[in-house]
Amino acid sequence: MERNELRPILREMFPRDRTYLLPALHFLHGEFGYLPGWALQIVSWHLRVPASEVYGAATSYTELRLQHPGEHLVRVCSGLSCWHSGGRDLMRLLSKRLGPAAPDACDSEEGASRKISLEEVPCGYLCPMAPAVEVDGRWYGRVSARDVSILVDRLV
Ligand code: FES
Repeated sequence: MERNELRPILREMFPRDRTYLLPALHFLHGEFGYLPGWALQIVSWHLRVPASEVYGAATSYTELRLQHPGEHLVRVCSGLSCWHSGGRDLMRLLSKRLGPAAPDACDSEEGASRKISLEEVPCGYLCPMAPAVEVDGRWYGRVSARDVSILVDRLV
């Protein structure tokens, strides 16, 4: 979808009312796989919602991302249980191997050039199975450094 195509689509799908902010963001995320900054600006204009509020909503939900994802997505749980049960070490290990986690900023196309994107994710509700790691939407619990290496090897 091109930029000039988005306005008519938003006009057709979403009345100009702030209550449609989340549905519009989910629609965009479904279309692009992430939320490009330019699309957030158009949503702000269309719904008459301040850009800061749109950005706030876009960054409040873990299922919405602002960066273009790589071909595969590895997410390490940074919740308290996981982080202190080895999640931090897994993140360090993965950062060395895959490069640092993507910055939380709009219009980052960096992820598109990566085969594997790395992110931290808040609690995945698998706390008794800490540390937890999600690979392409599938969660794994009690993950060791060896396990995570095997999981990543499968993606390369
Ligand atoms: S803290 Fe990681 S799943 Fe809850």
